Amino acid sequence: MLFSEITKVKLIEEPTALETMERLQKHLGCASVYVKRDDCMTLGMGGNKVRSLEYWMGEAQRINADVIVVAGAPVSNQCRLAAAAAAKLGIKCLVLHSSEPGAKIEGNLLLNYLLGAEVRFIGAVDEVRRKEIALEEIFKLKAAGHTPYLIGDPIVGAMGYLSCALELHEQAKLKNAGIKHVFLPGSMGTTEAGFILGNKMLGYPFEIHLISVEYSISELGNRIEEICTNTSKHWGFNFNPLSWNKNVHIYDQYLGGGYDIPTEKSLEAISLAASLEGFFLENTYTSKTFAGMVDLLQNDKTIKDEVSCFIHTGGLPTLFALGDEINKKLISN
Ligand SMILES: Cc1ncc(COP(=O)(O)O)c(C=O)c1O
Repeated sequence: MLFSEITKVKLIEEPTALETMERLQKHLGCASVYVKRDDCMTLGMGGNKVRSLEYWMGEAQRINADVIVVAGAPVSNQCRLAAAAAAKLGIKCLVLHSSEPGAKIEGNLLLNYLLGAEVRFIGAVDEVRRKEIALEEIFKLKAAGHTPYLIGDPIVGAMGYLSCALELHEQAKLKNAGIKHVFLPGSMGTTEAGFILGNKMLGYPFEIHLISVEYSISELGNRIEEICTNTSKHWGFNFNPLSWNKNVHIYDQYLGGGYDIPTEKSLEAISLAASLEGFFLENTYTSKTFAGMVDLLQNDKTIKDEVSCFIHTGGLPTLFALGDEINKKLISN
């Protein structure tokens, strides 16, 4: 199947902005650094998941779904953006939050309610159990005569960042930007695998730097390899899984205490992006990625002298739900 033949619902005015970060470049004394503003989209405050949702909602429409189900923590950007896409397209959205009821209504959780989603709390279960509960819910909805669609299949979602790679390549060409190094958060793997497949389709113009915010290098690598392989098989792309990691570099030294736990450098990164470039990073994904990029631009001679691009994957609402302790650290920076 050709990539352009895959069902997609348009949710983004493309391309998202590609800006230079001149003050950051001066501060670091390196070659040009760009930021691709995937955090600035019109739907639901934007972010990387909107690109995946174009394909997930495409699948939902293809099967005539009357309800979408999405599962995640109350801070999940994916849940918020699925609720926003459902609102925009007039489909019911059921959000299953893996937490006990009583979470403070702020950040993404507040927005989920405003977007009109049905929000249910399923207890503080792990990722595996959360998926099982979501599938049970799909089964119940079908038995009740609905046509549900479960948001989150990586094979479909990866198409979002495959298209982002193509978009960035075209945009950089028009601007004569000469972008070589691309920085992305490394987490569940869907976004990363999509970008890797796009880079492969283009003939590897980019060196992709994935800053892990969740897993070890081997676990993230395994996840990405699996998604790349399954995605290629499913859509019939001619792709050799052995070469998934060509031009891909994974780092886990910026992870600190683990997922969602800030490091000194990630808090500094939030202040740096805001005070030098006037945009906001969040705690979980973008601040650690930005911190990793800053470190590599300062200390890796090759990267420092070539043009880089930070892909801002969004997540702004979570900045408003960090809690007093982190807020205090942030403003003392
Ligand atoms: C703002 C932001 N950036 C990056 C990611 C990572 O994306 P993925 O789960 O596709 O690895 C997420 C995931 O929720 C996110 O919300």
